[in-house]
Amino acid sequence: MKITIFGSGYVGLVTGACLAEVGNHVLCVDVDAGKVERLQRGEIPIYEPGLDELVKRNAANGTLAFTTDVGAGVAHGLFQFIAVGTPPDEDGSADLQHVRAVARSIGAYMEEFRVIVNKSTVPVGTADVVRETVTAELAAREVDLEFDVVSNPEFLKEGAAVEDFMRPDRIVIGTDNPRTTELLRILYAPFNRSHSRLVEMDVRSAELTKYAANAMLATKISFMNEMANLAERLGADIEKVRIGIGSDPRIGYHFIYPGCGYGGSCFPKDVKALERIARDVDYPAELLQAVEAVNDRQKRVLFARIRDHFRGELAGRVIALWGLAFKPRTDDMREAPSRTLMEALWAAGASVRAFDPEAMHECRRLYGERPDLVLCERPETALDGADALAVVTEWNVFRSPDFDAVKARMRQPVVFDGRNLYDPVQMRKSGFVHYGIGRRA
Ligand code: UGA
Repeated sequence: MKITIFGSGYVGLVTGACLAEVGNHVLCVDVDAGKVERLQRGEIPIYEPGLDELVKRNAANGTLAFTTDVGAGVAHGLFQFIAVGTPPDEDGSADLQHVRAVARSIGAYMEEFRVIVNKSTVPVGTADVVRETVTAELAAREVDLEFDVVSNPEFLKEGAAVEDFMRPDRIVIGTDNPRTTELLRILYAPFNRSHSRLVEMDVRSAELTKYAANAMLATKISFMNEMANLAERLGADIEKVRIGIGSDPRIGYHFIYPGCGYGGSCFPKDVKALERIARDVDYPAELLQAVEAVNDRQKRVLFARIRDHFRGELAGRVIALWGLAFKPRTDDMREAPSRTLMEALWAAGASVRAFDPEAMHECRRLYGERPDLVLCERPETALDGADALAVVTEWNVFRSPDFDAVKARMRQPVVFDGRNLYDPVQMRKSGFVHYGIGRRA
């Protein structure tokens, strides 16, 4: 089938490459000419396991191409995917200007039936906005053409996006038109393994499903962080509590790891946006507000602990930081807890020696050269002369270091373990002062 994808960001690029991989002809359209040129040369702007290979192979096969030509994009695909960004407005609501711009282009150039598939995370009711925008453009051209708008939200996880797309646990299709459902069933057939993963529903339910999924996951994390903070104050160990509650299949072991807060481009943005959507329909979403407030506080927990340990005397201290990305297997630092920590340390006069397996260039791009930030080539060198080590991202490479070597490099053997990677008892035996999240010392 012929498919056009507007937006070559995370979602667009992964969707395009995976749909091409199963034999479709995909044309990716992006307004950023520089990005399109780089993609045409085979340079992938993001780090995502497996994506590079997929893009290069399909580009070479001629099943995946990139362009800035919007008209060519509208002419190419029966399916017109919208996968552009919906950044938060100042008030937290999703900014739909890019979605609207794509809808206008489709309306301006289309010459025959099109299925417009929305993959961007958008407020409930956006499909109607897209429909109205396309209709208005067609009316201005005085043409009468049929089209349908579908909500098909994406549930990719960064770091596992290709795998998630190729082997989805569900494919949510929201449309009110049976003919379109049939087309999407054909499109997604290669991704249904033992049984159909398609979950068919109306457009608005599909739009809400996306927010509900992310809000639920964010709620699990904030809930566990709240329990961790309580455990600390009550002399309990959150790791024991986690295993204790996870064994109940209704709760489950997934996504109940306490830590120094959730980050990334999705949870913070989507929880805020859903809160805003609720406010617009006069519903006070108190649980969502609490999820966000608990997370904001949790992102400051490591700093508060470091400050208390050093009795507020942070000027001139050197803190080693392991992990900059908001989670492992990505170079993404959007809303990363590492940023909250670094910025607070700098404001208090401390300096940072940081290492991350993938996000060093991103950190350099964000903060540039500054005297209180040293980006180190290896995890060990970040420790040289450090007064403390803070572990912010649970990359595997940090899980089992040679603690004697770690101690030898540091000025003081103090570890702030923001992801509960280390056993407090072992750490104490090895001569470390260890602070976990909700751990019993
Ligand atoms: C998230 C969802 O997991 C995807 O299903 C969704 O499709 C995606 O958002 C999206 O809306 O596009 P992602 O942002 O890539 O994916 O990251 P996650 O793996 O979900 O992690 C989010 C944050 O939660 C990270 O900072 C992670 O460290 C934190 N986390 C996760 C915890 O603190 N504890 C946990 O138990 C799990």
